[in-house]
Amino acid sequence: MTTPDTPLAQVGVIGLAVMGSNLARNFASHGHTVAVYNRTVERTQVFHESFGADGAFVAAPTIEEFVAALERPRKVIIMVQAGPGTDAVIDQLTPLLEEGDIVVDGGNAHYEDTRRREAALREVGLHFVGAGISGGEEGALLGPSIMPGGSPESYAALGPLLEDISAKVDGEPCCAYMGTDGAGHFVKMVHNGIEYADMQFIAEAYDILTAAGMTAREVSDVFREWNTGDLDSYLIEITSEVLDQEVDGRPLVEVILDQAEQKGTGRWTVQIALELGVPVNTIAESVFARSTSGHTGLREAARGALSGPDRTITVEDRTTLVDAVRAALWSAKVVAYAQGLDQIRSASEVYGWNVNISEVARIWRGGCIIRAKLLERIRQEYAGAHLATLLAAPSVAAELAASQDAWRHVVALATTAGVPVPGFSAALAYYDTVRSERLPASLVQGLRDFFGAHTYRRIDKPGTFHTLWSGDRSETEV
Ligand code: 6PG
Repeated sequence: MTTPDTPLAQVGVIGLAVMGSNLARNFASHGHTVAVYNRTVERTQVFHESFGADGAFVAAPTIEEFVAALERPRKVIIMVQAGPGTDAVIDQLTPLLEEGDIVVDGGNAHYEDTRRREAALREVGLHFVGAGISGGEEGALLGPSIMPGGSPESYAALGPLLEDISAKVDGEPCCAYMGTDGAGHFVKMVHNGIEYADMQFIAEAYDILTAAGMTAREVSDVFREWNTGDLDSYLIEITSEVLDQEVDGRPLVEVILDQAEQKGTGRWTVQIALELGVPVNTIAESVFARSTSGHTGLREAARGALSGPDRTITVEDRTTLVDAVRAALWSAKVVAYAQGLDQIRSASEVYGWNVNISEVARIWRGGCIIRAKLLERIRQEYAGAHLATLLAAPSVAAELAASQDAWRHVVALATTAGVPVPGFSAALAYYDTVRSERLPASLVQGLRDFFGAHTYRRIDKPGTFHTLWSGDRSETEV
């Protein structure tokens, strides 16, 4: 499929499932010559037949021909399923590459795998770039948000290509260098964690409004309206579409099995947050909400045994409820962003990535699944300012203060009616925890000292202390 006259390709894509195929087409539509290769040659042929005329492609039947078709330094983007498949492609590819070539993993890889692969390829003189790519199939084709890690040198060569095909907001590309080794995949993982939280809050808002007697179509209208204000975002927009969809004369949402699945990036976010000691309770509750929904046996047993309110929310004024739920949704969303960005900053300190949080917010404004109007504000808040938490940014704190009565009211209303709101209430608990002057952690410390002599510190003098609980109960300094 190549001839001696075929120009060298600026970039190559390995893996022609939908994401890889769309990414290759995106490069071609921006005027780049793209080499493509797939393990099964039939898929390469199908790609060539379907899209070969849409741009300059070199459809390579073998990986050797693929590598030979690329200009140096070669830029190869691997778009295969994360895991052993990626290692297999790397093993096949690297002996064919030369010093300075760049291998990009565009899948949802675990950042520790990316760190391992980056170190291994660096040993043999190659650059390895873990690039988070968000936006689903359509984003890959029309402009995703791209979060590349790896060496700064690799970004100098690769960055312009990626920026070219990324989504643009106010003329700026939604792609920026995130930091060395696993930084890009870490940022993408947290993006997905926030995505889980965002979706859980949306689901809770729908549940509350439905419990108050609204139909799916009415709730769809509410989301459409919300999308014109400060909640303006891709997920709010598509919520109105999903809620408006009917099948067999019924709202689709009422027919879909209520068991949410996951591929695991949200779970990773929480696992790693636990290791880093960063509280991301909104994301954790969202992951748990999905797993609880899938525990059919447990749910069935509980349904038969546990009593409670019948989930009816009675309100006099529906407009007031809708406004309150909007305030709760906005507030919870801000908390989830604050927690996710906190996790990125914490990992950045541990791994020395130097991630620019304002840049993260900037490249999430377009192309990705969590793109939202709010992100421009977050970008501004982090630009040039050291924020201990997004929640403390003056404009955010003021708006949370203004929303909190409604937020509390919604949590109380739902809880009283027996409508579970793990996301909204986790966000509110976090808000109240971090703003508390004093926490009951003091009692936890007292108990630890009682049963395990784990010691405690005091507010009124320096040092570490232990009370002789099983002796005369006097205090000793240890
Ligand atoms: C994106 C999405 C993408 C994918 C998630 C879904 O940014 O384009 O996040 O990565 O949709 O993997 O994840 P779950 O299957 O875990 O919900």
